[in-house]
Amino acid sequence: MDRIVIRGGERLIGEVEVSGSKNATLPIFASSLLSMGDHRFYNVPNLRDVQTIIKVLKNLGVKISGDGGEYRIDATEIGNEEAPYDLVKTMRASILVLGPLVARMKKATVSLPGGCAIGARPINLHLMGLEAMGAKIELRHGYIEAKADVLKGVNLSFDTITVTGTENLMMAATLAQGKTILQNAAMEPEVVDLANVLNKMGAKIYGAGTNVIEIEGVESLHAIEHTIIPDRIEAGTLMVAAGLTRGNIKILHCPFSDMEMVIHKLRDSGMEIEPEGDGVRVVGMKRIRSVDVKTQPYPGFPTDMQAQFMVLMSLARGLSVISETIFENRFIHVSELQRMGADIRIQGNSAIIQGVESLSGAPVMATDLRASASLILAGLASEGVTEVSRIYHLERGYEGLDKKLAKLGANIKRVKEGD
Ligand code: EPU
Repeated sequence: MDRIVIRGGERLIGEVEVSGSKNATLPIFASSLLSMGDHRFYNVPNLRDVQTIIKVLKNLGVKISGDGGEYRIDATEIGNEEAPYDLVKTMRASILVLGPLVARMKKATVSLPGGCAIGARPINLHLMGLEAMGAKIELRHGYIEAKADVLKGVNLSFDTITVTGTENLMMAATLAQGKTILQNAAMEPEVVDLANVLNKMGAKIYGAGTNVIEIEGVESLHAIEHTIIPDRIEAGTLMVAAGLTRGNIKILHCPFSDMEMVIHKLRDSGMEIEPEGDGVRVVGMKRIRSVDVKTQPYPGFPTDMQAQFMVLMSLARGLSVISETIFENRFIHVSELQRMGADIRIQGNSAIIQGVESLSGAPVMATDLRASASLILAGLASEGVTEVSRIYHLERGYEGLDKKLAKLGANIKRVKEGD
């Protein structure tokens, strides 16, 4: 497997463009299952997870062509209703085909996703919601078998805020009979982008972006064109990179207004972040201040930025506490950061970080996407050489992060296996 090798210490300077959002693309591609006709999607990021959802859809008989950011998707004909274990086990978000398949095909067989490095990540709320809408659900041989001659609109309240759960049920409800109300719904910008796509297709969804979403079922949906929103987590990761290297960068296609909490915390740490023309100017300061953070559903601080922010706090002056409230095991990066000299203690769901003067490069690896990104960031700010292996995880969710950082002046390169 390839590795990424970083010699730390370079200031990042220049312009960088954010790619399309992974977590918007995945449900939007799944939503094509709800309609006839030929969709066109633009600003699609070139990521392993996007390739996986394409495989899942192709396996269902959906026609998909394109690359380089543009895709055509035609789900007029669906050949079968099964998402197999081999695909779902590589990406949990494959579960996003469940709601659309049940709504359109009246049945679906989708592998249960199983465990995950960052937590148990159950999908009980997806299933309870579909059952409440009238689907019969059975779990057999590791698969969810769902059937529903008709789905009926219901009034549902989520016990826990779930992003893909909200998306799955919102999609299913578009073709249900009557009105569905989703309470305590996820408010993430990716949920809003999906709702915008569905409304363009002819759905009647109101309130996406608030915690109550109302969906008036319609008979059918049609094909559309849509440009995927930029990735706020990639943008945040690039901001931290500038903060760690006392950089001065301009981020283009930056979803500034979707990043309020992250920007607020980064500014508290001493960074300057201001809109400038067609982008956002980000300037890192010599002195990083310590800031406490608690992950929360949107509009709170995103769990997907927790590992990256922890690297920044590892080099801050003073003590900070980062609490992870979304996933029970999302501190896998800590032991690797400790090997690079970070002073971090875990207490329950909190990490207590005593900032150090410097980190030192080391061979490291991670078993989760955002953890991998955090190790690249740590490498940028470390003395000496850092080698990040298992970059497979990084490629699931960052489009050419190494190339983007190199263009900004980082000393970073990808090394092929065997070199
Ligand atoms: N939960 C349940 N039951 C459910 C569903 C969720 O108890 O049926 C719990 C989870 O265990 C977790 C919490 O609810 O404790 C929130 O999980 P959520 O369902 O919101 O996570 P998700 O939809 O599986 C999405 C993103 C994640 C991101 C989380 C939280 C996509 C494809 N994935 O996952 O992204 O961390 O929301 O914001 O949108 C990533 O990009 O690196 C990533 C992991």
